[in-house]
Amino acid sequence: MCGIVGYTGLGQGAAGGVATPSRTPLDVALEGLRRLEYRGYDSAGVALVAPGFERVATAKKAGKLANLIEEVDLHPLPDATAAIGHTRWATHGGPTDTNAHPHLADGDRLAVIHNGIVENFALLKQELLADGVTFHSETDTEVAAQLIAKAYRETGNLTAAMGVAARRLHGTFTLLAVHADVPDTVVGARHDSPLVVGLGEGENFLGSDVAAFIAHTHEALELGQDQIVTITPTSVAVTDFDGNPAEAKRFTVDWDAEAAEKGGFDSFMDKEIHDQPHAVGDTLLGRTDASGNLVLDDLRIDESLLRAVNKIIVVACGTAAYSGHVAKYAIEHWCRIPVEVELAHEFRYRDPIVDEKTLVVAVTQSGETMDTLMAVRHAREQGAKVISIVNTHGSTIPRESDAVLYTHAGPEIAVASTKAFLAQITAAYLLGLYLAQLRGNKFPDEISAILDELRDMPRKIQTVIERGEYVRATARSMRDASSVLFLGRHVGFPVALEGALKLKELAYIHAEGFAAGELKHGPIALIDEGQPVFVVVPSPRGRDSLHSKVVSNIQEIRARGARTLVIAEDGDDEVRKYADEIFWIPQAPTLLQPLLAVVPLQIFAMALATAKGLDVDQPRNLAKSVTVE
Ligand code: G6P
Repeated sequence: MCGIVGYTGLGQGAAGGVATPSRTPLDVALEGLRRLEYRGYDSAGVALVAPGFERVATAKKAGKLANLIEEVDLHPLPDATAAIGHTRWATHGGPTDTNAHPHLADGDRLAVIHNGIVENFALLKQELLADGVTFHSETDTEVAAQLIAKAYRETGNLTAAMGVAARRLHGTFTLLAVHADVPDTVVGARHDSPLVVGLGEGENFLGSDVAAFIAHTHEALELGQDQIVTITPTSVAVTDFDGNPAEAKRFTVDWDAEAAEKGGFDSFMDKEIHDQPHAVGDTLLGRTDASGNLVLDDLRIDESLLRAVNKIIVVACGTAAYSGHVAKYAIEHWCRIPVEVELAHEFRYRDPIVDEKTLVVAVTQSGETMDTLMAVRHAREQGAKVISIVNTHGSTIPRESDAVLYTHAGPEIAVASTKAFLAQITAAYLLGLYLAQLRGNKFPDEISAILDELRDMPRKIQTVIERGEYVRATARSMRDASSVLFLGRHVGFPVALEGALKLKELAYIHAEGFAAGELKHGPIALIDEGQPVFVVVPSPRGRDSLHSKVVSNIQEIRARGARTLVIAEDGDDEVRKYADEIFWIPQAPTLLQPLLAVVPLQIFAMALATAKGLDVDQPRNLAKSVTVE
């Protein structure tokens, strides 16, 4: 939520003996914002400083980044030595030019950008108003800027001023500041919001995540909680809010800038749907030893503790929570441990029964979702061990977990999640199988057989993608639909929920997912002549009666006029008679079927939204990383 980029470089030909980057700070900032735009796109802005500037040079515009780019083309900004840039997801104050970041203070010599929410901003604003400060925007950020300005006037040091201000702010924040007095410096601070440092030669970078600088460097520093970083072209200094030196963890980004490009597809979402066989395959890579035993290297939790676990609670939000629902069916079946799945924000604010024998599994693509982070902290305070399933290295949740299982989906740029979902389900299967191995619930050959099936899933997912044109054509023919329902049983239920979520997010159509068995307890009243209903049909080779129950459900809704859009396994002749449209998927074990069944639903939502002329990568009102509660 909100993308932040900072850059300082020696500039062309400026340094004797040191590599001299030829890019301009403005180019780096705009390129970083382009890659971060998925975090928020209500407005965008940049601030530049250079020696001799009377005041900070800024440009900011409401709307998408393209508006800012047009603005700086029309009214060029002067050359600079350092820059900060921001793309906004509005919290305090509407998405206007005035509320766009950066916000200026100290006679326009200081510029500040912010991600997060300053919860005590009203109080601080009153105090500053009493001091005679004039505010120009409705944002909490301007309060932070004025607070930094006040501390700067007192300390004469931008890093110290940032520390003074940070100590007074409540809530969540990443702040970046530049000041015309120190035109080679960018100062950043973080508290419960993300900030990473990119390390260059004769230049350094700051970003909300590594995408901000991936085009320039793979070497990065992960900042800890409540740290301040001061970068110049040749130095990076990290302290705590009191100015004491602090440690940041170095890491190397293992994906390339091209991985975060569209690669010839019309949208990131289309590309990411096509990436799914790799996302699943890569998440499975390197997980077994020479004798075929599962080894999850990142799991630092004592094996005896994992053996003693008597309850698992999966906490997550959005799509990630639906991967938790799939995990519940698999882990309970394989390990015989009760699994609860809970939306992280609901878990955090009730009184969950959690102790040392509870294993909490936090699932998150970004590793930053504030609701999930708060749930992790709450669980650990109660004595539970936390394993996180995360896609983004350098993010906060893995650092605050007892152990982490990384998914290897690569960067996911489209706001609505696709490939991360499949990778999360895959990682959850691995965790379930690992627990089953450790606790002796399954024989090694049983685990190997499931792993073999899992390793075959990328090929099958590819087959589903290759059959996508029929799904697209169906979606195009339904562009005027105003409501679509989704039904599933067992693991098909979370697939139905995810199918409905994708359609809501991308096509802004009313969509609901139901457990098929629940139909006659209410939702069947929604069925009317022509009502489109997707039905996820379990394998006819799976658990007895599951398949026939769903087939009965299809008959019930058809009898009441529904138009049935059925997802079924190759060779399921029984269901064919009851389907108006049928989307075939390859045969797979029941528990693994979600990895296939969700793919036509993703393609359907994307194609229908595209047919309506909507932006599938940046749906209205959403942000990819929700870093506020
Ligand atoms: C946002 C995104 C969703 C995502 C959810 C959880 O709401 O729009 O696509 O599923 O956050 O994100 P996480 O990064 O924790 O998986």
